[in-house]
Amino acid sequence: MKILILVSGNGTNLQALIDAQNLIGNGRITAIISDRADAYALKRALSAGIPAFVEAPDRNLPKTERRLDLSNRILHHAQDMGIDLIVYAGFLSILSGDLINAFAGRMINIHPSLLPKFGGEGMFGNKVHVAALAAGETESGCTVHFVDAGTDTGPIILQRRVPVIPGDTPETLAERIHKEEHIAIVEAVAKIGSV
Ligand code: GAR
Repeated sequence: MKILILVSGNGTNLQALIDAQNLIGNGRITAIISDRADAYALKRALSAGIPAFVEAPDRNLPKTERRLDLSNRILHHAQDMGIDLIVYAGFLSILSGDLINAFAGRMINIHPSLLPKFGGEGMFGNKVHVAALAAGETESGCTVHFVDAGTDTGPIILQRRVPVIPGDTPETLAERIHKEEHIAIVEAVAKIGSV
């Protein structure tokens, strides 16, 4: 199973997958694409000797066309490389178009909340934890789900839960969830790789 990982930032979820290569069934990380040239995740890819490159959104295009253009570029790479599974590992662009159909059931995302709570466009990173705390949640967690044409709406593969502790800040909650994400993303890829 050839895996393409999409990243935007620090890449700790990518690192969890790199470190768990032996746990992810017959999966092999074939390439990494970042939508940001300054993503630290690119350095992690370099250290691990995994081919990585940047496909940035074209800021000159209007939103819908911009998403489609990036999606089509990623689709072409995935097809060229014979990719079986695409993993959004802290990937913040929203993709659309033919890619969604071509990789239906073969493209997954990790999100730092118990979806369907605190998902959707604009809900990423710290904003998710700010919203969970503002809503007075007593627990939160992370979700790995298949990507569909919506944002954070596809079928759920697995979730891991953590308590919200009195005095939590978005940062302390994020840190607790991040640890669970690193387990969840490996489990989800292993689960897909074993079927
Ligand atoms: C993770 O918490 C991931 O769930 C989140 O971005 C962070 C990336 O961390 N993704 C989203 O919010 C997607 N909507 P990482 O770069 O250290 O893996």
